[in-house]
Amino acid sequence: MFNVDDLIGEFDRALRAIAGVAEAARRTPAEGVSEAQLSASEREHAVALMRVNHVGEVCAQALYQGQALTARNPGAKAALERAAREETEHLAWTERRIAELGGRKSLLNPAWYAGSFALGALAGLAGDRWNLGFLAETERQVVAHLGGHLLRLPEEDSRSRAIVETMREDEARHATSAVGHGAADLPEPAKAAMRLSSKVMTETAFWI
Ligand SMILES: [Fe+2]
Ligand SMILES: [Fe+2]
Repeated sequence: MFNVDDLIGEFDRALRAIAGVAEAARRTPAEGVSEAQLSASEREHAVALMRVNHVGEVCAQALYQGQALTARNPGAKAALERAAREETEHLAWTERRIAELGGRKSLLNPAWYAGSFALGALAGLAGDRWNLGFLAETERQVVAHLGGHLLRLPEEDSRSRAIVETMREDEARHATSAVGHGAADLPEPAKAAMRLSSKVMTETAFWI
């Protein structure tokens, strides 16, 4: 199922996601949006939220790569790879925004990556319908999560907001595309378990 070239490619992607050398093909949605005068506490709050979003994108890299590696159907594989490219852009945008705000990324990124990669590969092994179902549900939960962040980000932080808004649109499209490629609807307990694990991740990444 795996060949050596794939594994080397994976290792390279993992290092890029964690080390922070992601490049975005699309310009950051913050471009041309002026920087707000934030108070120290607002800035700290914005950094914490953008760190959570950056971790989410590290996880997205790993999930998508894990899934694309195990997907059987070429259509599903291509859809996963297309979405993964947009996730790389999200990764670069959030990373850059954290740096602009003078913050730091999560110290636990290697662990987030490893856990998500394993989950993605497991979902992939369950077959394309479940693989895509897991993806669609992940993206729906991310859309809801990003909506929450738009309420929590400082009102004036338009640069962060522009990034989160574009990400939310992209994630919604990823969910729709997964459904279009035949995603199964996951059982409710699986959805609840996913919500719980992302709660652990987001609450931890807010601080660490
Ligand atoms: Fe994303
Ligand atoms: Fe996505």
